[in-house]
Amino acid sequence: MTTTTIPTDPLPLTTANAVWAVEQACRAPSLHNTQPWRFTFGGNRFDLYADTSRALAITDPDARELVLSCGAALYNLRVALRKLGYHGTATLLPDRSNPRLLASVAVSESIPASAAERREYAALLRRHTHRGPFEPRALTPELAARLQQAADEEIGQLIYVHDPGQRRRVLQLARAAVRGQQADQRVAAELAAWTPPPEAPRRDGVPASAYSSDPPVSPDDLPPRDFDQSRGFGRLVAHDATPGTLAVLATGSDLQPDWLRAGQALERVLLTAAEQWAFAALHSPITEVSNLRSELRRELCTSAHPQILLRFGYAPDATATPRRPVNDVLELR
Ligand SMILES: Cc1cc2nc3c(=O)[nH]c(=O)nc-3n(C[C@H](O)[C@H](O)[C@H](O)COP(=O)(O)O)c2cc1C
Repeated sequence: MTTTTIPTDPLPLTTANAVWAVEQACRAPSLHNTQPWRFTFGGNRFDLYADTSRALAITDPDARELVLSCGAALYNLRVALRKLGYHGTATLLPDRSNPRLLASVAVSESIPASAAERREYAALLRRHTHRGPFEPRALTPELAARLQQAADEEIGQLIYVHDPGQRRRVLQLARAAVRGQQADQRVAAELAAWTPPPEAPRRDGVPASAYSSDPPVSPDDLPPRDFDQSRGFGRLVAHDATPGTLAVLATGSDLQPDWLRAGQALERVLLTAAEQWAFAALHSPITEVSNLRSELRRELCTSAHPQILLRFGYAPDATATPRRPVNDVLELR
């Protein structure tokens, strides 16, 4: 006996699911929580645009970190689509005449999410930028290797800074970057604009609950970016320094598609870590000051381009920062 299967048309993504997927995309990290993205959805396709009204002209003059942040949101969109049993095929910079259109994502129905894909989505919910203490134990070698593999999968490179001498020099460069930016009134003004007072009803910017007003400084630690600027806004309890595992995320070249890939690699690495309750502190001043970025590259003896400095460690808690309502970032075509 032969059985015939009647072919069914693939199911398009519903509007409700498209809205949900964009909400998950927006949980991505972004420079100063600027959330510099815009999405459109229609005809089973998402388009991701850079929202340049949220650019930081002084801190990030080439919009490299803006694009990187959008790349992280793009990765989350892909994870969310898999959670729903769909697949998102991303084309980076599909229209050379429109550089704000960073990516188009064609959606197709696929097999249900695997257990690993569901775990990755659960990690997306708990990922956060960690500015509190880490547990004293180092990352396991297995996790350290998995983070490098996660970066590779998205055409990035995760370079660990293990050697004590090299680590000392990288930290020196990073501190010099923070000091230089603290002395620059224009960088400070941009930071102030994106760090609202504790009671402000803002849904963007770095909230006072996410940083300390008096972070401790130890010789082997990296001072966080000075979000507080002596205003006494910070509500995070100051903690003893725990250096964590130092690493640099880098890309082979340094053009807009590389920044999008760096963002996807960053988010994939962060989700892989969060699956194991490991989180990262992000330090970008060192890659924002161009001569220090070049020095970091020389120090790492690499031809790759450093995109961001990270410190990884385990932590038992995860607190979410606010996001703009999805209606502000998504247009249905
Ligand atoms: C490109 C980029 C650069 C960042 N640089 C820093 C930094 O230098 N210091 C810091 O504490 N956080 C940094 N962050 C983290 C953001 O402040 C954080 O993603 C944002 O406030 C949202 O919070 P969440 O990551 O906890 O969701 C950076 C994030 C991105 C994507």
